[in-house]
Amino acid sequence: MTTLTINGTERRFEGDPDMPLLWFLRDELGLTGTKFGCGQALCGACTVHVDGNAVRACQTPVSAIDGAKVTTIEGLSPDGEHPVQVAWRGLNVAQCGYCQTGQIMQAAALLKDIPDPSDDDIDTAMSGNLCRCGTYPRIRAAIKQAAK
Ligand code: FES
Repeated sequence: MTTLTINGTERRFEGDPDMPLLWFLRDELGLTGTKFGCGQALCGACTVHVDGNAVRACQTPVSAIDGAKVTTIEGLSPDGEHPVQVAWRGLNVAQCGYCQTGQIMQAAALLKDIPDPSDDDIDTAMSGNLCRCGTYPRIRAAIKQAAK
């Protein structure tokens, strides 16, 4: 059995130990804010925080993180007012929106580690999060705004 604390609530998992965290979150817990894009750790749509670090949920077996604290977009802020979320809304970052929860989780992890990131810091941290709508300039602007 695997025990995780997800958005502050203890959850137990007794299924296939190889099940990716993404499917536990979405299919068993109904936390559908975390998205499936590629399933191969290549796009970043499934980014969540595991013990405060940005992690690809599609390639993280539930059993590999027994005892961890997981935060999804639903738990990033109880009221949706995390500085990254505020900046995202203020600058209308999203276009289709599909990749944006992963982008926000990656950005929040970046700002936790580097509170005032340079353009290079942002580009490096966000380079693995793909956006087919090309919202990259607004993503960078929102991260800078959130850092203020
Ligand atoms: Fe996990 Fe693309 S769905 S990185």
